[in-house]
Amino acid sequence: MPRIRLHVNPLKSDLLEIADVPRVAPAAGQALDVELGAAEAHFLIDLGRADPATLFVGVEIRRELVVFTNGELGRAGLTNVRLVFANMSVDMPRLFAPGSVRRFFLNFPDPWFKARQHKRRVIGPELMEEIHHALTPGGELFVQTDIFDLALEAMGALETMAPTRFVNAHAPWSFLLANPYPAKSRRERQCEGDGSRIWRLLYRSTQGP
Ligand SMILES: C[S@@+](CC[C@H](N)C(=O)[O-])C[C@H]1O[C@@H](n2cnc3c(N)ncnc32)[C@H](O)[C@@H]1O
Repeated sequence: MPRIRLHVNPLKSDLLEIADVPRVAPAAGQALDVELGAAEAHFLIDLGRADPATLFVGVEIRRELVVFTNGELGRAGLTNVRLVFANMSVDMPRLFAPGSVRRFFLNFPDPWFKARQHKRRVIGPELMEEIHHALTPGGELFVQTDIFDLALEAMGALETMAPTRFVNAHAPWSFLLANPYPAKSRRERQCEGDGSRIWRLLYRSTQGP
């Protein structure tokens, strides 16, 4: 594996203006599920193996990791899983047609702990609006994190959009007890290994875009 940076600042000017962001388009009749901040695509690889008919796309801001992971996916013959290089904080409208995504997964977004770096966090009302816009009616948004502050930030943004745009699949202002999908992200495995608490949320889109 080449040397790949652990973190990049999503507000760096060249990452706010990525020129070659693709339009993600599944084949006719094919469902599209998307992980935002997919890293090495471990979560999507699990899903892709379990469901070969669906297209699984990961959005990732570290270009070298996208190139490397897509090479590995090609070598593994997993044709329904791929990463795209893009910045979820600004590129959602370019990536996805309105109403085209069945599920979004936001697994362990970067915490950016220092107060002066909080503006780099991806979770917030703007991203939730973009996600809602791209979801099919009844589509799902799954969020998981081991950082309680981030889980509350996501829940606050989503509950503010209930019931007209999102509804909590469990109960209002509630966390899920377990991951309902046949997949685990790399960070999720690490957290489970060291016994860290994971906060999980599942919301459904209640309207078309
Ligand atoms: C903490 S890692 C979690 C990776 C994976 N989802 C997991 O659960 O193991 C966060 C990932 O999001 C990516 N990322 C951070 N900001 C992003 C942005 N604005 N757009 C796309 N990807 C981003 C990072 O490069 C990193 O791979």
